Amino acid sequence: MKKGSRRARQEALRRQKQKQRIIWGMGITGVILLLFGAVMSLRSQSIPSADPADSEAIALGRQVYETQCASCHGLNLEGQANWQEPNPDGSFRGPPHDETGHTWHHNDAYLIESIRLGGARLPASQGVSAMPAYENILSDEQISAVLAYIKSEWPTDIRVSQAQR
Ligand code: HEC
Repeated sequence: MKKGSRRARQEALRRQKQKQRIIWGMGITGVILLLFGAVMSLRSQSIPSADPADSEAIALGRQVYETQCASCHGLNLEGQANWQEPNPDGSFRGPPHDETGHTWHHNDAYLIESIRLGGARLPASQGVSAMPAYENILSDEQISAVLAYIKSEWPTDIRVSQAQR
């Protein structure tokens, strides 16, 4: 074999190895990205969810509801009498959280945000709500527990329909 062609073969072999290294590198980067994605999605799942089948959350939520919410939303989630009419000062009355209200028309993220921020979240053009902001009064766990309790009181079809929102 001539010297020149051996060198060419060695060069081709070197290039091939380099290509393989690049492919391996891309593969490993891909695996790392996948693992990263999996860890991030697990982390987002670890944020307490308002699970209406979690009996511990329901018990805690019921307690929170009775002490913090029942005065405006009714002990049995029934809301204030004539809740669709405004108070004499024009502010909203506490709406029901049972199936006769509109709580179940919203998804969990919206409801949790409403509990955190209270009436202050509404723009003035929408009206005045005296609902307190609970973000500094209740823990995240208590907020999701109170929602779990509210949801646990809904009939199954309402619960299924809200879960799809
Ligand atoms: C001082 C009275 C008052 C208290 C106490 C109160 N709320 Fe409210 N809440 C209201 C009023 C009035 C509204 C309707 C206007 C609005 O959306 O802010 C409302 C609205 C809501 C909504 C939005 C419903 C929807 O369909 O948009 C949620 C959720 C809610 N309250 C949950 C709670 C929870 C949970 C508590 C207890 C931790 C609580 N509220 C305590 C008065 C109150």
